[in-house]
Amino acid sequence: MNRSWSVADNIGVTKYKERHKLKEAVERIAAANQLAADRLSPMTFPKTLDEAFHNKTVLVTGGTGSIGREIVRQVLNYGPRVVRVYSRNEYNQYMMRKDFNDRPDLRFMIGDVRDRERLMRACEDVEVLFHASALKHVEVCEYNPFEAVKTNVSGTQNVVEAALDYNMELLVGISTDKAVSPTNTMGATKLLSERVVLAANKYKGDRRTRFTVIRFGNVLASRGSAIPRFIQQIRDGGPVTLTHRDMRRFFMSIPQAVELALTASLKSRGGDIYILKMPVLRIADLISALVEIYAPRFGRQPAEIEVKEIGLLPGEKLYESLMTPEEALYASEFESYYQVEPLRAVDQQRLAHPPAGYDSAAEPLLSKNEIIQMLAGQGLVEVFLAALPETVGE
Ligand SMILES: NC(=O)c1ccc[n+]([C@@H]2O[C@H](COP(=O)([O-])OP(=O)(O)OC[C@H]3O[C@@H](n4cnc5c(N)ncnc54)[C@H](OP(=O)(O)O)[C@@H]3O)[C@@H](O)[C@H]2O)c1
Repeated sequence: MNRSWSVADNIGVTKYKERHKLKEAVERIAAANQLAADRLSPMTFPKTLDEAFHNKTVLVTGGTGSIGREIVRQVLNYGPRVVRVYSRNEYNQYMMRKDFNDRPDLRFMIGDVRDRERLMRACEDVEVLFHASALKHVEVCEYNPFEAVKTNVSGTQNVVEAALDYNMELLVGISTDKAVSPTNTMGATKLLSERVVLAANKYKGDRRTRFTVIRFGNVLASRGSAIPRFIQQIRDGGPVTLTHRDMRRFFMSIPQAVELALTASLKSRGGDIYILKMPVLRIADLISALVEIYAPRFGRQPAEIEVKEIGLLPGEKLYESLMTPEEALYASEFESYYQVEPLRAVDQQRLAHPPAGYDSAAEPLLSKNEIIQMLAGQGLVEVFLAALPETVGE
């Protein structure tokens, strides 16, 4: 039955609206109080990885990449509430979702670190964030410098601001040896990215977030590494292209890299940089080792594979450094890693006897045989082979 709208109805609606407004205001005040209480909550220092990740909401930017994916894999072992992967390419997310059997504690969000609004949505309720997305290729960044600034610097700023706004427990920024005394755009943007992360410790106020950085050398078997190209060149009968016969690099495996990231989650008090001690090898020796391993697999004699020197690429260094002598003033040495705390006061005694940095030019080199043993020991010989793209017509 239709009835006409009365004054009494209007009063009812007004009262309802007022009550609703009041409820909203009370909720807003409660949320603000909770945020204030959270902000005042002290930093937490988990003692075990279980404590660090169990029941936590974890976000990994670049979670489909070589490093991000392994972070996801290892963190899932500790029973987090959920791990969110944040990256741009939907196919990579689709493939990773399948590889991880659609597990319900792993979620995928399409997004760009440059897009602050989207990132903020992805970061809701996040307690621990690993920032592993970046433009990482020296040549690409050299020719697209502003894109490198947008992803590596502005993108990191967005990540830091999200960590501050949500008062996260921990932000781990993933960095590279190329950020140390940089000679190219990629390294320079990654150095700024490190600074953006570490500086947040200074202005975060009473928020609880620990902001830390870890630096890697070259990661064996990561996407875009030079090794698959060398193996393809061996398969094709050579020549194998080497930039310079004395080029030396630090090397580590993906699981080693990620173990360091997890160690940093426990040890960091905020404002520190973690650097794994890792072997150094000459790229020329790596190529000799690869020729010895793979030439027979492709029915060739190692002696028939020529190695051709093509010169350094723009912005490329002959040697890499993981820690400058200036940073070494603030470093503590542990069995398998260094911890650099640039925000702490310098020990005067160290100033009197300045330490050396950590540079691939000064470290002992792995021999060809040791490189072969390392690749075989880590099961990488078959991994590289399996990842090799088919050659058209073969
Ligand atoms: N691999 C190494 O040898 C090595 C050595 C030292 C340090 N590192 C550092 O480790 C980190 C990870 O390297 P990686 O080897 O894992 O690289 P990767 O395999 O190329 O992965 C990069 C990841 O970042 C994502 N990404 C790129 N741009 C993005 C953006 N604008 N917004 C959101 N996601 C983005 C990519 O996915 P989409 O393309 O789908 O967005 C991908 O998931 C980097 O910071 C790198 O500098 C790597």
